[in-house]
Amino acid sequence: MFALSCLCYLLALASRARAKATTKAVVLFGDSYTDQSRQHSIANGTYPGKDYQEVFPPADTAADGGVQWPWYLGLYGNYTIWNYATGGAVCSNVLTPLNGEPDVIGGQTDWFIQDHVSNNGTKHQKLDMDPEEFVVIIYVGTNDVGLNSFVTDNQSATLSLADLAECQFQTLRNLYALGARRFIVNSMTPLQLTRLYSTDSAPTIYYPSPPHDGVAWNKRIFNFVHTMNTLLKNGVAALSQEWKGSATVEMFDTYALFEDMHNNPTQWFNGSIPANVTGHCHQCPDPTDFTQCGIGDCTLAERDSYMYWDELHPSEQTGRNLARQMWEKLTGSSKY
Ligand SMILES: *[C@@H]1O[C@H](CO)[C@@H](O)[C@H](O)[C@H]1NC(C)=O
Ligand SMILES: *[C@@H]1O[C@H](CO)[C@@H](O)[C@H](O)[C@H]1NC(C)=O
Ligand SMILES: *[C@@H]1O[C@H](CO)[C@@H](O)[C@H](O)[C@H]1NC(C)=O
Ligand SMILES: *[C@@H]1O[C@H](CO)[C@@H](O)[C@H](O)[C@H]1NC(C)=O
Ligand SMILES: *[C@@H]1O[C@H](CO)[C@@H](O)[C@H](O)[C@H]1NC(C)=O
Ligand SMILES: *[C@@H]1O[C@H](CO)[C@@H](O)[C@H](O)[C@H]1NC(C)=O
Repeated sequence: MFALSCLCYLLALASRARAKATTKAVVLFGDSYTDQSRQHSIANGTYPGKDYQEVFPPADTAADGGVQWPWYLGLYGNYTIWNYATGGAVCSNVLTPLNGEPDVIGGQTDWFIQDHVSNNGTKHQKLDMDPEEFVVIIYVGTNDVGLNSFVTDNQSATLSLADLAECQFQTLRNLYALGARRFIVNSMTPLQLTRLYSTDSAPTIYYPSPPHDGVAWNKRIFNFVHTMNTLLKNGVAALSQEWKGSATVEMFDTYALFEDMHNNPTQWFNGSIPANVTGHCHQCPDPTDFTQCGIGDCTLAERDSYMYWDELHPSEQTGRNLARQMWEKLTGSSKY
């Protein structure tokens, strides 16, 4: 009886401490849906290692055509942003070796260690942030299941979506071992809504050839996204139960947010033309010639009317919407 009430008291204290905690920083891992400039810096020959300073427009634009959503999240919540996401990345280069960009479980976690953990791997290991004052967000999977991987059946014969989900949970465990205690896993977005994975079989800049069956891709990606999201939700629930009292881990329902944007566009898009959630601003008139990309783009004034920037990437306004809802989540009031 006493032991039980005592335990409850400690748990109540722990959860009250977390509720009171002021979030000061957000640490992000992922791909081009989150990266500001790391991939471009790598391509530039600048290795974006310890204390990397992100490059913003006009010097460099992110894959959303402008400033990527973590910057807005930092602005809305007055958070310090540690953005380790890298365009083209996957959760694990061992599982799905695609572009060789630093992966979430490996190279991106290593950057976090370089920036924040002294005496890594020793018994004097020390994290330079208060675990209650920062949140880790993992937002990955689009490349893992996409082109040259599951969608085109290029994955290894012994790899399943369950392995991809497990990689995300292992990353959480690794970060837990380093001292992180607050986690959010973003669900995958409705990729079937993008032009790349639409039912249209016409070539795109991301897949100019060989010809593909758009209807088949569209069904496959729908299946992959829904299966991944079910695996992620179940795994996060299990981990949350396992870590009860010592850490929090929650889903952010990016899928539902994107669906809401798609279904109620006027509430979310505010450029100079009517909201457009089916097309995209950035155009590549000849899918076989990337040097023509940009010809026929929407204007700057029209840009915030689009849900998508290009055939695969959400727009900057979609990113602001995500940042706003994530900020509400971190302050305890988002429906996602
Ligand atoms: C790429 O290199 C140029 C020239 O040094 C620099 O101005 C630019 O900021 C770099 N871009 C990134 C993303 O690092
Ligand atoms: C923003 O965060 C910084 C660093 O945590 C803090 O010093 C400052 O007071 C905060 N500003 C506001 C307006 O809350
Ligand atoms: C941190 O330590 C672990 C365990 O020794 C090691 O596997 C990893 O490579 C180290 N990471 C860095 C960035 O030093
Ligand atoms: C993916 O599989 C297709 C069909 O087998 C093959 O033509 C293509 O070269 C593969 N792509 C990669 C990147 O391995
Ligand atoms: C649209 O709304 C965002 C805030 O969500 C604002 O930052 C942006 O400037 C607005 N865009 C236009 C074109 O008014
Ligand atoms: C949406 O944008 C695309 C690309 O600019 C355009 O082709 C399409 O007609 C637009 N749709 C609507 C409903 O305005």
